[in-house]
Amino acid sequence: MRKICVIGTGYVGLVSGAGLADFGNSVICTDIDQSKIDMLNRGEMPIYEPGLKELVDRNVATGRLSFSADIDAAVQNTEVIFIAVGTPMGENGEADLRAVEAVASTIAKNMNAYKIVCTKSTVPVGTGARLEKLILQQRNSEVDFDVVSNPEFLREGSAVKDFLHPDRVILGVSSKRAELILAEVYRPLYINDTPMVITNIPSSEMIKYASNAFLAVKISFINEVANLADKVGADVHTIAKAMGLDGRISPKFLHPGPGFGGSCFPKDTEALVHTGEVNGVDFQVVKAAIAANKAQRKVILGKALELLPDMTGKIIAILGLAFKANTDDVRDAPALDIIEGLESLGAVVRAYDPIASTNMKKYFLPELDTRNSVSETVEGADMVIILTEWNELRGLSLPDLKKRMNSANIVDARNILSVDQLKEFGFNYRNVGRSTI
Ligand SMILES: NC(=O)c1ccc[n+]([C@@H]2O[C@H](COP(=O)([O-])OP(=O)(O)OC[C@H]3O[C@@H](n4cnc5c(N)ncnc54)[C@H](O)[C@@H]3O)[C@@H](O)[C@H]2O)c1
Repeated sequence: MRKICVIGTGYVGLVSGAGLADFGNSVICTDIDQSKIDMLNRGEMPIYEPGLKELVDRNVATGRLSFSADIDAAVQNTEVIFIAVGTPMGENGEADLRAVEAVASTIAKNMNAYKIVCTKSTVPVGTGARLEKLILQQRNSEVDFDVVSNPEFLREGSAVKDFLHPDRVILGVSSKRAELILAEVYRPLYINDTPMVITNIPSSEMIKYASNAFLAVKISFINEVANLADKVGADVHTIAKAMGLDGRISPKFLHPGPGFGGSCFPKDTEALVHTGEVNGVDFQVVKAAIAANKAQRKVILGKALELLPDMTGKIIAILGLAFKANTDDVRDAPALDIIEGLESLGAVVRAYDPIASTNMKKYFLPELDTRNSVSETVEGADMVIILTEWNELRGLSLPDLKKRMNSANIVDARNILSVDQLKEFGFNYRNVGRSTI
């Protein structure tokens, strides 16, 4: 059992903190946002993530997990400090490391005994070395410390499961001492034979970007395949399934849709391109994936226009605002661009999301007309556009939808509705890569 402090209690920090406590460690989760800490101390979750409340409650009850806004004290009283603050996109596509560096300064000023400074935030290659230098310059006493890179691969929507049962754990270390302590921190995973990749810090930092960029490329690739399938009467689902039967390809991440979004792929692909540029490497494939992703949002808009060429005054019901199912995260969600595009064409947009409406209004579209149910949203609508693959939307009753709508137009940007049923109930429809089968 190790004493751990997690700085930054967002999607990654909160899930990781609770998960590390579940592994038997003693964990203090901290944040500069006092309101988040207050919520957590009242037993409320600041984010939506399936299974998170149970995990947090269980570990708070055992006394292994606590929350505090006193970051100084938390650093002083612990040995392993995980940095889990945001690294958003900077002006030129680079990762903005201001929060990470601010945290490193706080750690340096509270260095009262040996510490491990472990970066869980996604940071570009070279950051570990930068943090080490910064701490050496700013530490308040000559105590030892080690910097470790431990990128996180959890997916929003299944973050708890992903953290507790990861495909692999990556540890970028420069000392045996740090490696052995981290092995103890992750002991239950070692016992379960979870693959552990122990490497140097630059390799670890690059593994995260290479993985995310590769997945982004896969998504953009299948989206372009889907766009062609729509033109030639082919079925992208059959194509993806058959491709996935080839072990070299794998069937995962071959789901066409409105393009990737969220708080990771868009910024991580841009950051990798930027790091490449700084180092004289032109990431042409990743650049193409970014461009194809931006275009994909327009492709969805184009499908809506095929069904309703004149959008002026037309009521468009958007079903799904989150960038994917099972999360309340709307950062860089395709819905943002698509709603903006529809409004610029004169459409009247209404939206429904089972969880994410509050965040969409709070952070991005305060004026958006959000409704409390599917039926309320589609009443009198001229078109429905499905943007998130929520289970609730998979089960839509098409006859009921048709009865409520003004005209039966659907763009199913997640391919969750049965083409046979759309035909049977007389919808004019478009999906992604199955519109012409
Ligand atoms: N969200 C994901 O699915 C995911 C997955 C893997 C990796 N990551 C990476 O993890 C990092 C965190 O992402 P997130 O989605 O959890 O972000 P987030 O925005 O949900 O959480 C970040 C938290 O850090 C806090 N914070 C900011 N500056 C701080 C400071 N100086 N001191 C203390 N707290 C501070 C914020 O108040 C916020 O609560 C990012 O680098 C991201 O790329 C995210």
